[in-house]
Amino acid sequence: QSGIITMDEGYMNTGACKSAVTFIDGELGILRYRGYDIEDLAQRSSFLEVAYLLIYGELPSQGQFGEFRNRVTRHTMIHEDLKRLYDGFPKDSHPMAILSSMILTLSGYYNDQLDPLNPRHREISITRLLAKTPTIAAYSYKKSIGQPFVYPRNSLSYIGNFLNMMFSVPAEDYAVDPVIEKALDLLLILHADHEQNCSASTVRLVGSSRANLFAAIASGVCALWGPLHGGANQEVIEMLQHIHNDGGDVNKYLNMAKDKNSTFRLMGFGHRVYKNFDPRAKIIKKTADEVLQKLGVNDPLLEIAMKLEEAALNDEYFVERKLYPNVDFYSGIIYKAMGIPTEMFTVMFALGRMPGWIAQWKEMIEDPTTKIGRPRQIYTGAAHRTYVPLDQRG
Ligand code: SDX
Repeated sequence: QSGIITMDEGYMNTGACKSAVTFIDGELGILRYRGYDIEDLAQRSSFLEVAYLLIYGELPSQGQFGEFRNRVTRHTMIHEDLKRLYDGFPKDSHPMAILSSMILTLSGYYNDQLDPLNPRHREISITRLLAKTPTIAAYSYKKSIGQPFVYPRNSLSYIGNFLNMMFSVPAEDYAVDPVIEKALDLLLILHADHEQNCSASTVRLVGSSRANLFAAIASGVCALWGPLHGGANQEVIEMLQHIHNDGGDVNKYLNMAKDKNSTFRLMGFGHRVYKNFDPRAKIIKKTADEVLQKLGVNDPLLEIAMKLEEAALNDEYFVERKLYPNVDFYSGIIYKAMGIPTEMFTVMFALGRMPGWIAQWKEMIEDPTTKIGRPRQIYTGAAHRTYVPLDQRG
């Protein structure tokens, strides 16, 4: 198929690593997990089933999926000592800092089961990470608003459990809204993997030293935090809010984004690989409209986003540079409608990306030829020099 580079050609020409997990064609706007189109999976699968597909390479049978779902469900609680760590974070700590620290600290509970080369140890780490990340994320939100932690409930779905831990309070009953549950499941599917992006490459590089999975993933969380990567979904909402507060003149900001003397960038636009529409953005844009309507939310930021997109797609600067909305442009509008606070948006990205990071780490451990080798450099420093003692240097 067009766009698929062969291993030899690719490796020699681009230094790209080999992987069988995700395929992207940036020109044609194609994204496939283990060969399945993202559109197909978004419409017909579930996040936990997509996690299985990415990690183990095949869609599970009913028996395999039942065992996987039970295994994950039964490990969603975190150690009571880990809960106490939340008290140690400064009050306004960003939840991405908490998420990375807590994931790394998790390794301390499995000290004698962390060997990446031991298949049983790998399964233990994979299950614990998938199971406990939503709990860790929800607890960081509860801590930030001074509400009590809500324990996971095995009777709820993976997504329903997260929503319950985020939004229920002991004082009253809480029912998971099926509209929100379905929309969140879709969003996490769309974020589940994206080949060798900044954070996935970080996970591979850290994992290539045979550091354990928790250490590799904690590093990936830090890479994702950057505003040019996963942090963009938080930046988009802050940008749209700023434009709204400033009267909603999208052309003023479009011109700022084109002005080389301005540091302003249209967050949520552009992509290192997609030089066509990001297929995820198309699906999220459609979902944003549906979810806001079903929830009866009338968010002026959605209208600003759509006006901004239309103006950019008709502007020579953006068209010439093939700058289209990426996965981060509309996702924040849906998270906001769900009641998820802005500072948690990038944590939501990490929740979704967890199976992709795990799949790529597992692939590299099980097939060392998929390792990202030690990067070399083009040296541009000083030519060879001889040391001059300090008292002779004036
Ligand atoms: C993600 O890799 C992945 O797969 C990542 C990701 C994933 O799923 O893991 O898809 C998730 O990180 C999505 C991207 C989120 N980031 C943003 O939305 C931040 C805003 N976007 C840009 O910073 C930028 O578009 C990048 C970093 C995403 C991509 O950068 P490129 O492709 O290397 O492009 P570039 O920075 O070299 O810019 C090329 C030109 C430049 O102008 P010229 O020098 O040619 O005149 O396009 C301009 C840039 O100034 N440009 C923008 C722009 N993005 C690029 N101008 C205004 N606004 C923008 N958003």
